[in-house]
Amino acid sequence: MSNTITIKKPFDSHVHFRRGAILRAVVKETTRTFGKAIVMPNTDPPINSLDAAIDYRNEILAAPGAGDFEPLMTYYLTKSLTPQEIARGAVGAEGTRIFGVKSYPFGATTNSQWGFRDMFEAKDVLKEMERADIPLLLHGEVHVSDDGEEADPYDGEKLFITDVLPRLLDSFPKLKISLEHLSTAIAADFMERNGEAGRLVATITPHHLVYDRRQAFSGGYRTLLHCKPLVKRAEDREAVRALAAKGLPFISAGTDSAPHPENKKFSSCSAFGVFNSPTAVELYTQAFDEMNALDKLEEFLSVSGPRFFGVEPNAETITLEKKDWQVTEPIETDEGVKLWPVGHVRHGIGNETMRWHVR
Ligand code: DOR
Ligand code: ZN
Repeated sequence: MSNTITIKKPFDSHVHFRRGAILRAVVKETTRTFGKAIVMPNTDPPINSLDAAIDYRNEILAAPGAGDFEPLMTYYLTKSLTPQEIARGAVGAEGTRIFGVKSYPFGATTNSQWGFRDMFEAKDVLKEMERADIPLLLHGEVHVSDDGEEADPYDGEKLFITDVLPRLLDSFPKLKISLEHLSTAIAADFMERNGEAGRLVATITPHHLVYDRRQAFSGGYRTLLHCKPLVKRAEDREAVRALAAKGLPFISAGTDSAPHPENKKFSSCSAFGVFNSPTAVELYTQAFDEMNALDKLEEFLSVSGPRFFGVEPNAETITLEKKDWQVTEPIETDEGVKLWPVGHVRHGIGNETMRWHVR
């Protein structure tokens, strides 16, 4: 087997850049290996107007290392998002248009305080998205059930798959839907049976392919793996891997790279989010190599995502080489704040070795 692989430059269907100093530090980590990305809108304040998206996109394009990277912008499904703003976003302005609307369940994760408890309350917006052909991007977890009880965080995705998703598919038969960051066997099984390019797709993160909760709890709680959805059981990870290895046209890479400042990550209330852009393509490649599925890597990393969002795959290529290396440094912002990437030799799960690197 060859020790190098060349693929079209990947497409990240799900990334968090934040704003200000963190954005200025992390954009180059994504552009190193990704040519285009769907940019998440859960900044503070949230992105829920075309003007805000234009401003945010310009900030990304001005960041060090942005080069010819193409950020594809999204709205946050908040109570103040209107059908009119969906229509404006579909048309776009100043080189910016809207490629998706992200739904966060109220209270489930970082900056989800603007999300709906019940997203069917946003049906006029969802109808307009269906009409304008703008996809709904789902953080597919139930956080609080109908009776106001908080759901067990290990069950949130299962509850969403069994209760909410089928109702959404029935109620909005033409709406394009992407189920983000699959983490359970039940979600993998649902996608295998119901996935369809152009209608119902899903993304998978590097961390849900590579880690499970045995690593998250090895020797103590490993906060660099703390994220929503939580990393699950080994059998869930195996099911998510098996789905990825099939090379299906409706499954793509979405890193969910989610940097947090050191003091929020290493805290008694650790922020949800795995910062993986410095290692994402390498970890995906490692997982596909372990599954003997490197022939499916390009579809997953570089083709499937662009197909769903209606953009061209990147013309540029990257080459990966099988070679051991370790992540020894954090990324530091221009304000001196450290951002610790997953896989770090000391703060990951301990003495991790990356098996592939990008030339
Ligand atoms: O772990 C997560 N971090 N999950 C999310 O849904 C949001 C993200 C973030 O923005 O930090
Ligand atoms: Zn995310």
